[in-house]
Amino acid sequence: MRTGRLVRLVSRPAQRVPDPGDVELVEVDVRDPAHGEVLVRNLYMSIDPGALLRMSDLSALDIPHFETGEPLWSDAVGEVVESRYEGLAAGDLVWHRYGWRDYAVGDGRQFRRLDPHAYPSLSHHLSFGVVAYIGVELARIRPGDTVLVSSAAGGVGSIAGQIARLRGAGRVIGSVGSPEKVRFAVETLGYDAAFDYHDGIAPQIGGELDVYFDSVGGEHLEAAIDALRPRGRIVMCGQTEQVRSGVPTGPRNMLTVVGKRLSIQGFYTFDHPELMPKFEEEFTHWVRTGRIVVPETVVDGLENGVDAAVGQLTGRFTGKVVLRF
Ligand SMILES: NC(=O)c1ccc[n+]([C@@H]2O[C@H](COP(=O)([O-])OP(=O)(O)OC[C@H]3O[C@@H](n4cnc5c(N)ncnc54)[C@H](OP(=O)(O)O)[C@@H]3O)[C@@H](O)[C@H]2O)c1
Repeated sequence: MRTGRLVRLVSRPAQRVPDPGDVELVEVDVRDPAHGEVLVRNLYMSIDPGALLRMSDLSALDIPHFETGEPLWSDAVGEVVESRYEGLAAGDLVWHRYGWRDYAVGDGRQFRRLDPHAYPSLSHHLSFGVVAYIGVELARIRPGDTVLVSSAAGGVGSIAGQIARLRGAGRVIGSVGSPEKVRFAVETLGYDAAFDYHDGIAPQIGGELDVYFDSVGGEHLEAAIDALRPRGRIVMCGQTEQVRSGVPTGPRNMLTVVGKRLSIQGFYTFDHPELMPKFEEEFTHWVRTGRIVVPETVVDGLENGVDAAVGQLTGRFTGKVVLRF
């Protein structure tokens, strides 16, 4: 019998960040695949705010949460070890949602075969380029627009700024959490300007925004509402400030949204399957031709997964965070 490790939820964390004992890494038997199933050895998995959000019971999110006693899950890529599903064969590389475990066994239809040559790295299949792409599509960028992106050096933000530029934005501004990330945003990601939000947000944004790509909410959102032009657009990808602090936050200036006729669009990536074919085509082309860089931080070892998820939320890393098994 094959054995492998997995991470499971023992109890829901009282805060957003799990205490030792809320999750455990255990060694378990790995069953053989039944008819129609595959057995996959995981190679990379996504480390993203979803893990901490799914541990919590935030009902406003309208997403499935982890169950206590059950393994965590997340986007992952791996190699088929054994297949009893006619659509896949041993050696195929696949994308699926059974992260947080060394081996995944399940219905073959839940595993999508990957083109190993699509991107320079297999881990790029876990990029949040798709989130950025959909958010920028919904923002309806017009040539010359001034666009603000928060968490601009993060998994979503590092790509959102680059796509906004490719869609014709005239000026792209990034908000980040350290001087090193300011340099990274400008020099590597091509932001026209970037600032460290710890030095104040509103004065550094300036005025005259057309679009705000929001990953953090709170103080950033309030400042952006003041800085947006009439009929400006906000696409709301996440609310990290509130998630991190656990405290509901502003903005206090919602009347300005009415006065300026602003639009605010929250979105989930999985609600937009109609955009996927165009995304696949354009994004792989941009990455292959060097028009977009896909920054990532690779953390090694499933035993470091929970610590990496906490570090990801608190700004310890740059770009998309992936765990290598
Ligand atoms: N809607 C969807 O379908 C979808 C899909 C995936 C992710 N999301 C959301 O998109 C957002 C970004 O996800 P991601 O994986 O790319 O995460 P990320 O931006 O790479 O990581 C979170 C980052 O937020 C920054 N941060 C933490 N606290 C902050 C605060 N109080 N104010 C401003 N920035 C703060 C930190 O970077 P600094 O060093 O810059 O502080 C941290 O690295 C998250 O809110 C996530 O939940 C949405």
